[in-house]
Amino acid sequence: MNSLEDLVQACQKAADSQSPETQVEAVLKEALKDIPHLKSLIPDRPEEDFLVHRSNNLTIWRIRFVPGVVYPPHDHGHHTICAVYEGAETNTFYEERGGELVKLKEQVYPAPCVFSLSGEKIVMSGNLGSTDMVALHLQLGDLIETHRHVWDPATSQKHEYSDKVFVQLAKYPPGYDIPVV
Ligand SMILES: [Fe+2]
Repeated sequence: MNSLEDLVQACQKAADSQSPETQVEAVLKEALKDIPHLKSLIPDRPEEDFLVHRSNNLTIWRIRFVPGVVYPPHDHGHHTICAVYEGAETNTFYEERGGELVKLKEQVYPAPCVFSLSGEKIVMSGNLGSTDMVALHLQLGDLIETHRHVWDPATSQKHEYSDKVFVQLAKYPPGYDIPVV
């Protein structure tokens, strides 16, 4: 593939297939075989996220986690596939039991790495490393239109997802230019 458009088209074709979960993973695993080339296709923008593609069955984001950032536990409502191509993403998984968030496990995903999460998985995502983590995060649905949730990890309080609550409950490193939403 010679452009970001080619990669998006390959992912959309995979999302439209009979087995989107495995086909999208396969496209991303192939793309991660040549990280310098992949990086040449994706704009190196400083924002924590930007929308690359949106359709009714696929959303693609470019994600950047600076060192020390931790986003609150949230779900996605759709099967999610992540392709880490710089640094490492750390995810802490939770389960809701009787209104309480119960921590299950923490897992580090260093580049190059493709992994998937089911839509109902509750995950707190961050960067505990010393360099930026940069990834593509894809959902097999229109994430922006999806009803989903975010939790306060300190109190287990469950909220309807909004960017505002998400940012309020995130932990940012000192001096970080916190987005206004
Ligand atoms: Fe997420």
